[in-house]
Amino acid sequence: MEKKYKNAFATLLKLFSFFKGYELLLVIVGILIVYTSFANIFGTYMLKDVIANGITAGNYNYLLRSASILGLIYFLGATSDLAYTQIMIKLSQRVIYRLREKLNKKVLSLPLSYFDQHQVGEIMNFFTSDIDSTINALNQSFANILFSCCNAVGTMLGMYLIDWRLALIATFIIIITVIFIAINSVECRKYFRRQQETLSIINGCVEEDLRGIKVNKAFEHEDQSYKVFEKKNADWRDATTKAFFHTQLNTPFIVSLSYLNFAICAIVGIIFIANGMLPGGIAALTPFVMYVRTSAQPFNFFTIHFNTILNCLAGAERIFAFYETEEENVNDKGHVKLVKINDTYYREKGPNDHILLEGDIIFDHVVFGYNKEKIILNDISFYAHKGQKLAFVGSTGAGKTTIISLISRFYEINSGTITYDGINIQDIKIESLRRAMSMVTQETHLFSDSILNNIKYPRMHSTFEEVQKASDIAGASHFISKLKDGYNTLLYDDGANLSEGERQLLSLARAAISHPPLLILDEATSNIDTRTEKIVEKTMDTLMQNKTVLVIAHRLSTVRNSTAILVLEHGKIIERGSHDELLALKGKYYALYKGIEELS
Ligand SMILES: Nc1ncnc2c1ncn2[C@@H]1O[C@H](COP(=O)(O)OP(=O)(O)O)[C@@H](O)[C@H]1O
Ligand SMILES: [Mg+2]
Repeated sequence: MEKKYKNAFATLLKLFSFFKGYELLLVIVGILIVYTSFANIFGTYMLKDVIANGITAGNYNYLLRSASILGLIYFLGATSDLAYTQIMIKLSQRVIYRLREKLNKKVLSLPLSYFDQHQVGEIMNFFTSDIDSTINALNQSFANILFSCCNAVGTMLGMYLIDWRLALIATFIIIITVIFIAINSVECRKYFRRQQETLSIINGCVEEDLRGIKVNKAFEHEDQSYKVFEKKNADWRDATTKAFFHTQLNTPFIVSLSYLNFAICAIVGIIFIANGMLPGGIAALTPFVMYVRTSAQPFNFFTIHFNTILNCLAGAERIFAFYETEEENVNDKGHVKLVKINDTYYREKGPNDHILLEGDIIFDHVVFGYNKEKIILNDISFYAHKGQKLAFVGSTGAGKTTIISLISRFYEINSGTITYDGINIQDIKIESLRRAMSMVTQETHLFSDSILNNIKYPRMHSTFEEVQKASDIAGASHFISKLKDGYNTLLYDDGANLSEGERQLLSLARAAISHPPLLILDEATSNIDTRTEKIVEKTMDTLMQNKTVLVIAHRLSTVRNSTAILVLEHGKIIERGSHDELLALKGKYYALYKGIEELS
């Protein structure tokens, strides 16, 4: 329990650090809140004199003067109320802006291994529900908590200043009210937490349904999905109903108790007056009972906003923990820079000392596993030099994609070395290493932008002619020219308005737009028909000249003319050689090749 509050306090401090630069405004907000509360309390207190010296004594001059002063105090109170709420709203949105900006930067700088272990929905929650609860608290709750505290202290002080005996009676009933509020708020919190949990389950459910909508329909799973959803939706309904039932209990209970308190204090006060025991008489009793009427309100307000703040802190704590996840660049000890000057790639040795890059890749006894428990690649060694085309073949799950993802340092290897032009890739700055290669990954991804910009993505300054040329090489120009808007066709939802094959052709064009010395193709033509593939292969040959090419192909016919073919099985290279050599060997490659030939 203690630890929980310690954590909450630490989170609070971190949250307030996002107000950096606005400290003075925060102090002003604090002062305005105290003043607003003071104006209310003091205004009521002044009634005592207004009634005694003005109304009872019939001194109309006094009455007019004090009424004007009272009016001014109330007016300034209302103005400062408006001022601090407005300032807080402005400040809160700035803090939220900063929190979100930092979240976005964080997401983009995390290593791929993070995304292997966390779901998209989990990360989305930081941006949605966690930020939302923080917005609620920042907009109102922090200010309201301070306001309620000032009001509670001021009201009690006002009552005790007027008459301590009456105040003691009033305090007794206030304490009962506060105990009720405290007990009820525990219930409220319980159900609000359930509401949050059920809501995130519902969101997860919707996300899952939407992602798998095609499979869902294909297997006629709609009824089953509906039933699962119905149950979760009912859980949410029950939790939310209970949460609101308990919140709504507060007001009638508090109002009834304060009426009771009001009645008791009024009766006792009149008895006091009748017996000459209340010095100010009716002039003192009037502000007193006014205090009593509103006395429970600050406590109620306090619990409501306290709960909102606890909610916010839970969200903020998750956000701050996420901020602390290790970034990719933290592990980047690379100091060697690979640079691109006029579309030619160099290794930078000194300010005016550049060596042309060749794109040489050497794997030397590389061992790798995505996690400690399971080794995926075992003792992988190979080389590929400029102008050579190296092909990887093997069954699904053999480790082909894993091998090539290590070259761009998507993951760090367990042991062995990988070199790019003789430089250990660990010594090369990550972003310059990635710039020095062109890669078509197994999963294509297209951005919600025009076809033109999607192709230009790695080299935004490309001219239209260059984009056309890249599309020609990739065999994509044919289908683009058939589209109504051609290169300006807007893609949405990862290119959902294109076929799988067309999306792959665009990825190929994207790879052909820049000319780094290393080209990596991972099943880049798996969804393209054999006829188009043959055409693409021919045009790609020009692109591959003078480059190191690593290619993974699921149709073995496409790797035939490679310099060398590596056959992988269970993360090991089991055969290597040229197409003819491997066929003569009559091993795994032979089996794969013949198998596929028989099938087609
Ligand atoms: N991100 C990942 N996290 C954990 N294991 C993975 C990940 N990606 C792939 N694997 C595992 O690594 C093995 C090799 O996968 P992969 O290199 O994608 O195979 P291939 O490309 O040859 O089909 C598979 O057993 C797969 O389950
Ligand atoms: Mg693969």
